[in-house]
Parts: sequence; structure tokens; C-alpha cells
Amino acid sequence: MVGRADRLTAPDSSGAHGPDPAQGPDPDHGPDPAQALVPGLVPESELERRLARDPVLLEGWAWGTPRQGHPEGSVGVHVGDLLRTIEEWGEVGDRRSELRLLALVHDSLKFQVSNRLPKAGRNDHAVRARLFAEDYTDDERLLSTIEQHDRPYQIWRRLRRAGRPDERAFARMLESVPDLSLFLRFVELDGSTAGKNPEPVDWFRGELRRRRPV
Ligand SMILES: [Fe+2]
Ligand SMILES: [Fe+2]
Repeated sequence: MVGRADRLTAPDSSGAHGPDPAQGPDPDHGPDPAQALVPGLVPESELERRLARDPVLLEGWAWGTPRQGHPEGSVGVHVGDLLRTIEEWGEVGDRRSELRLLALVHDSLKFQVSNRLPKAGRNDHAVRARLFAEDYTDDERLLSTIEQHDRPYQIWRRLRRAGRPDERAFARMLESVPDLSLFLRFVELDGSTAGKNPEPVDWFRGELRRRRPV
């Protein structure tokens, strides 16, 4: 397995923000399939180019139609929204590379989840996404963020139903996330798209501030 430094922080020699024209889609073979599925996706590193060719991700990005919480439809369009927001936020350097990787992978295994089984363990899209990402990075900060990315929302929903927070679930989540700053930034990013209720992210940010500074 290649370490994080080799896989995430080596942008193209053309610069972190721009594509290398030499690596662009071959005009003889039509539009790039990844770019057709993820609007605005221009890979910024060799790692992103490998992800954009991965048949599992291509299938995952194509999955999904407009539904509650995701009026945009497919996972790929959602990912494109997140990439655009990362750009709008002006993220650069490692944080930009890391948020982009998280955006590309975090929801992309939804197509493998069975609606007939409980959405837990290997039938949880976030767990499946983590297992997928382990082929690309061994950085636990990234892997745990992928695996836990919907946990704040789930805990918030349980809080709304039960009237009190599940302290053990919250503590378990915090224990498994080694980089809370990155985790919160990604939760904010994922919750920033149209159709998402801002309340769970606001609640999570407030809880973190109350419990331990980020
Ligand atoms: Fe998700
Ligand atoms: Fe998402």
C-alpha cells in the first residue's frame, strides 16, 4: 500500500488547480466517462485519474435518481456539487486534495447497498466506501471520515426522536475519528448542498464546540 504522502499530496506538475492537457480525454474516443457523470470533474493528481477510471466508481456515480435529501439525482451530480463548493471555499493544498478524495468516494458505493437488508456493517454505503478507499490510501484520517460521514446526521435524527442525545454513540464516533477538523469540514461540505437540512450540521458543530474544541 502506498502512503498518503505519495498518493494525495503530489499534484500534477501543471499545478494543483489545473488539468494537464496531456492527460485529458482522447478526442478520438468521445467524452470522458467520469466527466460525463461528475460535472466539472478535472482530475488534479494521478490518484484522481486512477479513481476516475475505476469501474466501481463509474457505476457508483451513475447511480441514483432525485429523492429526499438528494434532489440533484445521481451520486455523480452530488459529487460534482461538492467539488464546486470546495472550489468556492478556496480550499488549497492537502486539505483540498483530501476533501476532493472524500467527495469522490464517500457516497459512491450506494449502488451496492440492498434495501432488503439493514443498512449496517457491510450493507452500509459508508462502510463499503471505506473498504473501497482502502485500495487507494492507508490514511486513517480519510478512511474514518468516509466511514463515519453520515454518523452525525444519524445521531441527530435519533436525538430528535428520543429527545436526548445518544452519548455513547457520539463518544464512539469521536474516538474513531483521528482528525476532527477534517471530519467536521467534510460533514459541513456534504451538508452544504441543496435539499439538505442545515440543522444537523449546525447541531454537530455546536456539540463539538461544547465537548472539545476543533
Ligand atoms: Fe452518505
Ligand atoms: Fe454525500
